[in-house]
Amino acid sequence: MSIQQRIEEAKESGKFLRGDPITGDRYYSKEFAQKEWDGVFARTWQIGGMAAQLAKPGSTMTQNIGAESILMTSDEDGTIRAFYNVCPHRGNRLVADDGKCGVKRMVCAYHSWTFSLDGVVRHVRDAEDYPQGNPIGKMKLKEIRCESLGGLVWFNMDPNAPSLRDYLGVVADQLEAYQTANWTRVNWMTGLVECNWKIIHDNFNEAYHILSLHRELGTFIDDAYQNTEFELYKNGHNVMKMKGHLPSANSRVNVVQAPLDAILREWDLDPAAFEGRVRDTRVALQQQKRALGPARGHKHYEGVSDAQLTDYHHFTIFPNTTLTMASDFFQVLRPLPHPSDPEKCLFDHWVMMPPVEGRDEVDTPTGKRKYEPAPHETFLHGEASIGFVADQDLSVAVAQQLGLHSRGYQDAYLSGQEDRVRRLHEVINDYIAGRR
Ligand code: FES
Ligand SMILES: [Fe+2]
Repeated sequence: MSIQQRIEEAKESGKFLRGDPITGDRYYSKEFAQKEWDGVFARTWQIGGMAAQLAKPGSTMTQNIGAESILMTSDEDGTIRAFYNVCPHRGNRLVADDGKCGVKRMVCAYHSWTFSLDGVVRHVRDAEDYPQGNPIGKMKLKEIRCESLGGLVWFNMDPNAPSLRDYLGVVADQLEAYQTANWTRVNWMTGLVECNWKIIHDNFNEAYHILSLHRELGTFIDDAYQNTEFELYKNGHNVMKMKGHLPSANSRVNVVQAPLDAILREWDLDPAAFEGRVRDTRVALQQQKRALGPARGHKHYEGVSDAQLTDYHHFTIFPNTTLTMASDFFQVLRPLPHPSDPEKCLFDHWVMMPPVEGRDEVDTPTGKRKYEPAPHETFLHGEASIGFVADQDLSVAVAQQLGLHSRGYQDAYLSGQEDRVRRLHEVINDYIAGRR
């Protein structure tokens, strides 16, 4: 069966939304957040980091999610594993940083229990003084599921979860077409935002707000829902396929505007030649990228369709991960639940770019950067930019968090193009109720 046939088979049929209300308490109730943690986050696949961080044997990396920290390691043989980042002696968090290379042993800062990268205790002081038995070689870190896909390492706290590939279903095939295994993360940012994680994720589940919050994107992205494909899959994931590299059907301009003009020139096309037929730029660019791309070092273009050369495919992976896929970059946009406060979240924004011969500098959402793995930047929302489009999205997040407390709000009143918003909440309800 071809990918396209599998996609068709995996899609939901016709009217599937039940209309579960999206009530305000879902965004601030501690009780609901606990149900979400147990029913959803403890059972679903999450991205833990870049496979490149563990490429060298003897590497570690960590990812915080809710109150947990997950530790991922590659041992001397390059085997990748994931563990709860907690010392089994007295519960100290074992690795305190984002991770490093050239690691032989992991030593707990409290009483110096020492672990090999496979999570087994290898050295303990006064090992004979344990009436219940010497912990060396016996005690180990609690291991969880761990797999790699698309240059990313994923973990799942549920021992009974399906494999990552089964969990993602047709989404995995579609992501792999971009051949991202060796792409580099050029932006790695995490902002603490004063809103529930779903406020941000709801935003990524619709493009209805583009004309209001991101007007300038209309110069090169067609946000009109009539021209956008929405695919909602039975497994709870979905994709929104937006046409790119042409002005929006909502914008009604007939000359090429920035930044599309520069992109056309970069591909040896004259912006002036498209006057009066600006919506032809998309196909012209597809042809040009196809013809010139490989010789310019864009080897990965082989794997993608003509549409993917210009368009933006936003995959929303249940519960909280958005991957915006394009032929020249992809982004992880992910709000994570806060350790203790449902009215806060940690918002990850990563940008990955492919290797292209001769590339040493790239344009990223936070300006020009060297083409090399970015350091992890963490900050409070508002103290620094998390990318200008994401900043615009976050500009309404705190006000919405406040509004959802109001007695005047009962449920969202959604347009058809916002189906994916209600869908997220219904799948959350399914997980909490044990229907999935
Ligand atoms: S808590 Fe880790 S060695 Fe004691
Ligand atoms: Fe947005």
